[in-house]
Amino acid sequence: MTHLPWYDRVPRTRIYLKLPEILAALANVTFASSASGTPVEQFERAFADMMGVEKAVAEPYARTALYHLIAACQLPPGSELIMTPITIHDIINVLLIRGIKPVFVDIDPRTYQIDPDQLALAITPKTRAVLVTHLFGLVPDMEHIQSLCHQHGLLLLEDVSHAYNASWKGKKLGTFGDAAFFSLSSLKAVSTGYGGMAIAKDPEILQRVRQQADLLPPVSKSHLRAILYRNLIVNLATQPSLFSLFTFPLVRWISHRNPETIRKLQTDNPHVHRLHEMPDRWLWKFNDVQAKLGLSCLSRVMDWDERRRHNAHILLNQLSPVAQNRLPQLLEGSYPVFWRFPFRAPEGAKFRRFMAQHGVDLTTTLLPCCSTMPIFADIARETPHARQAVREVHFLPVHPTIHPDRIMTQAKVVLEFLGQGG
Ligand SMILES: Cc1ncc(COP(=O)(O)O)c(C=O)c1O
Repeated sequence: MTHLPWYDRVPRTRIYLKLPEILAALANVTFASSASGTPVEQFERAFADMMGVEKAVAEPYARTALYHLIAACQLPPGSELIMTPITIHDIINVLLIRGIKPVFVDIDPRTYQIDPDQLALAITPKTRAVLVTHLFGLVPDMEHIQSLCHQHGLLLLEDVSHAYNASWKGKKLGTFGDAAFFSLSSLKAVSTGYGGMAIAKDPEILQRVRQQADLLPPVSKSHLRAILYRNLIVNLATQPSLFSLFTFPLVRWISHRNPETIRKLQTDNPHVHRLHEMPDRWLWKFNDVQAKLGLSCLSRVMDWDERRRHNAHILLNQLSPVAQNRLPQLLEGSYPVFWRFPFRAPEGAKFRRFMAQHGVDLTTTLLPCCSTMPIFADIARETPHARQAVREVHFLPVHPTIHPDRIMTQAKVVLEFLGQGG
C-alpha cells in the first residue's frame, strides 16, 4: 500500500502568495496608505508586457473587469452572449445586470472547453458576443472559435482567469479575443490577494474601461485587511507541517460530518443570489498593496507554471496507460498550464475517501453549472456534459510547491484505487 508520509500530506490547493509577502502587505496596510499610485502603474505595465499587449487595466475583481468591458464594448441591452456554464455564478449576475442574456452551450466533455459545433448551432440574429472560459487552464481550438466569430460578426471575449500563460499554436490565450479579463484572486497563478485585470485590442475600448476603473472609490483598509488575513490563514493552514498535523485531520473530521461546511469555507461568496445591481463591495479601486503582491507573483510565474506543468505531466504519464478516458484531452497545438488537473471519478465520495486514507486531500470543482441553477431558471439550458463534469471531475493536486516525488506517490495511490476496480 502506498501512502504519503504523515509529515507531508498533500492539500487540495495552496495559494500563490508566499507568507512573507502577505505579512509585508499587512504591514503596508497598517503603516502606509492603500493609495493607487506608481506600483499600480508598474504592475499594469509588467502584466501587459508579459501578455505582449500595449496596456492593461487593473480592477478590483475579474467580475468588475467584465462589468466595465461590457459597457466599454457598447453591447446593446438584450444582446445574446454565448458561453459555457461552468463558472462562478456572479459572472452570470454581472452579464444580467448589464442587460446581456447569457446563452449556455455545452462543453466538450474531454477538453472541458466550449464545443465549436455547439457554439455555431446556438448563434441567432440576437447573438452579439461569445465568452470563452478557458476552464482549468486547458486550451480550446482558438482559431476555429475566432473564425466563427469573424464569420458572424461577433465580439469575442476571453475569461483567462485559469489560463494565464497558456497558449494556442504559440499565441497566448487572452490575445485572440477583442477583449479579455483575468482574476487575480489568491488561488490564481498571478495573485494580488484579490483583483482582476482587463485587456482589449481596441485602445478606445480599453480607455473606456480605464475611465470607469478610475471612478471607483479607494478601498477601505478594513476590507483589504480582512482579505489579507484570509490569505494568511489559508497560507498557514496549507504549510506542509501544519497541514499534515492539524488541517488535514480537521478537514477529514469535518468532511465526515458535513461535507458542505468545507465547500462553504472555501468559497469567497457562499451566498447564491440573483443580483440586480453591482454590490459596493465589488467596486473598489485596485491599490498599491495589491500591486506589490502582483509584482512578486509575476516575477516567478514562468518558473511556477513550468513546475505545475511538470507535475501535471507526471500524472499524465503515469495514469494514461490505464485511465486515458478519465484524463483531459489535450488538443494538438495547445499549451495548457493545468491551473487544475481534472480527473474523472464518478465514484465520488468513495474516491475521495480512498485518497484521504492515503494522505491526499482532494475535492471536486467548486464552480457550479450555472445553466441549471434555480436562480437562473429563466435562462436555463440543458448542458448534460457540463452537469456531469461538475459532479465527476476531481482535482489531483499539482501546485508548483508540491515536490514531483509526492506527485509520483499520488499517481501510485490513484493507480491502486483503479486496480481495486475503483
Ligand atoms: C473561471 C472564472 N472566472 C471568473 C472568476 C471570478 O473572479 P473574481 O473573483 O476575481 O471576480 C473566477 C473565480 O474563481 C473563475 O474561476
